[in-house]
Amino acid sequence: MNSIQVHGGVALCGKVCIQGSKNAALPILAATLLTKETTFLLNCPRITDVHGMISLLKSLGMKVNWEENGVRIEAGELCKGTMQGEAIRGMRSSLFLLGALIATCGEATMEYPGGCMIGKRPIDIHLSALRKMGVCFCEEDGLLKAKVQNLHGAMIELPFPSVGATENIILAAVMAEGETQVIGAAREPEVEALCRYLMCCGADIEGAGTSCLKIRGGNTLFGVEYRIPEDRIVAGTYLFATMVTGGCTLLEHAPVGQMDAVIRVAEQMGAVCHMVEEGLYVQAPEEIKAIGRLQTKPYPGFPTDLQSMALVAASLARGETDIEEQIFENRFQIVDCLNKMGADIRVMHSGYARVKGVERLSGGLLEAKELRGGAALVIAALAAEGESIITGCQFIYRGYEKIENDLRELGARVAGV
Ligand code: EPZ
Repeated sequence: MNSIQVHGGVALCGKVCIQGSKNAALPILAATLLTKETTFLLNCPRITDVHGMISLLKSLGMKVNWEENGVRIEAGELCKGTMQGEAIRGMRSSLFLLGALIATCGEATMEYPGGCMIGKRPIDIHLSALRKMGVCFCEEDGLLKAKVQNLHGAMIELPFPSVGATENIILAAVMAEGETQVIGAAREPEVEALCRYLMCCGADIEGAGTSCLKIRGGNTLFGVEYRIPEDRIVAGTYLFATMVTGGCTLLEHAPVGQMDAVIRVAEQMGAVCHMVEEGLYVQAPEEIKAIGRLQTKPYPGFPTDLQSMALVAASLARGETDIEEQIFENRFQIVDCLNKMGADIRVMHSGYARVKGVERLSGGLLEAKELRGGAALVIAALAAEGESIITGCQFIYRGYEKIENDLRELGARVAGV
């Protein structure tokens, strides 16, 4: 199905199990290239970005098979193939294979990974860091070619805590000769999960989860069984869905420890959030309060991936909220759609939107143009009066394993059409 039909106005109630993290699974899948043994990943989400990464691993000679409770990846004869095709263009996370292939094959050729609706998605930080480790890059026939004679450790100071660049450096550094220090590394939980997976395999990494990493390369990496942690962005998505529908839900296995900034904003908006044994209990407020200002920041700040969901909540709050998107340059794609539903949002400039809360939204025909904005449109439709049809759901299925089922379990009237 490529569209979702929503009958809005139903308060979400009940419990939903949170899926495995897309942004942890993708770099860890790339990291399985670094061992000659078998890896079994529990709780790996069955989403299109993971399927895309798996088809890339298979095209590189890996044997990958889904089993009932996870995915088994067996090392194969790594071919130094060129990665290209839809999976590369459409999926940013193919970039992680750059670091892994350089580490294992000493070379990699790939199409420039796609930019997308939320921004140009440059890779300058990746390239300049890997150059410091001895990698040479050139462009031939529109392809990015990487080659290295002697992959060695380096002292790398990142100008911005880029998640992907940090992960690419880690993937190269665990196989490089000597020690790599990364100052100003991304602290996102997904980066920490990658480090912990590699440490389980035998890698020597200090500072996992901090902005200063020390990686001593050259250890042989073993095959392990590893559980992908739950997805904090999916949990946050359902938290905001609960809020805007006036519901009360239990988000089972939500990674509450990684959600401080999100929970703080929800509570400022009037929600009641309790960490319980099973996960996170969320009780929506009678009326959403406007919080005046919200800025997205690198972890542990408020995550850019939940900015669109907070925008929907702010559009139904009593009062005004200024939302500053400080990570991506074009992440207010859904404003036109929300305003057609009756919201009052003005994009002041590309990184800043002023939201005046309104009483209600009305359903309509909505078009998803990217992953998280698409999920936010589903939330808006759940809160709106009347029926909505959200098209372009292939974007949403990139990161949400079973969003219709999840929402139906919470009492929503949704169906794939
Ligand atoms: C990761 O993207 C996530 N994707 C994104 O999630 C997430 O929004 C982002 O981190 C920020 O948290 C995956 O993990 C697969 P960045 P990534 O490098 O690595 C600029 C989702 O919805 N930049 O931290 O691409 C860049 O343009 C996705 O799940 C450079 O300028 O993010 C952006 O403005 C969306 N040069 C900012 O840094 C570079 O070389 C953050 O990018 C790299 C990045």
